[in-house]
Amino acid sequence: MEEPRIVRLASVTSTQEVARDLPIGSVVVADHQTAGRGRLDRRWDAPSGSALLASFVLEPHPLLSLAAGVAAAEACGPDVRLKWPNDLMLRGRKLGGILVEVSGGKAVVGIGINLTSAPPGAARLGLPRDDLLDRLRAELSAWASAPHGRILDRWRELSVTLGRRVRVELPGHAFEGTAQDIAEDGALVVDGQRVGAGDVIHLKQRGPGARSRAAPRRSARG
Ligand code: BTN
Repeated sequence: MEEPRIVRLASVTSTQEVARDLPIGSVVVADHQTAGRGRLDRRWDAPSGSALLASFVLEPHPLLSLAAGVAAAEACGPDVRLKWPNDLMLRGRKLGGILVEVSGGKAVVGIGINLTSAPPGAARLGLPRDDLLDRLRAELSAWASAPHGRILDRWRELSVTLGRRVRVELPGHAFEGTAQDIAEDGALVVDGQRVGAGDVIHLKQRGPGARSRAAPRRSARG
């Protein structure tokens, strides 16, 4: 059994690329990524040293994506919430994101959190990177092995998606509805339909004269 380790690097293509060749328990942290990746094939770009950019190699399990979201929200602090599936939100703005990639019996959980700068419209946390990394390691270790019911319950408590009108964008198809719950496997339930992947956009709350419209295309970070 190889020793788990923390690998600290100045610049990488993506911490995900380095992490996938390392044993379970390893963590890769970088100051800068030249080809950082977000969900749904988006890019994740951040100025050098301005964000926590880390990938954790863990045992795969079906709720790992939600568990990682809960762990990251807990590590960031009491004001941080989750937008389905696991975007970190601070006062309505995106603070960070999580990308889970599974291959070869390992799951690589990539977490990016804006610390000292953020794109227009996004949030930043302002915590020291190494303090946040220590908290993340502890929370991830706890939540990755938590009972599924506890992960789902805590995700529901932290959610800013449940109860909202949302637009679901799937390849070649989109619809609007109310996000009602998450299913036992982590799928979002929108007007009775299960959404397992794709993009979920929070629609503006309707007021007199308000109209719903899709948010513009954006990078993963903002
Ligand atoms: C998203 O919100 O779409 C997920 C963003 C995940 C970004 C992190 S930064 C560290 C790790 N390396 C990557 O290339 N991506 C993840």
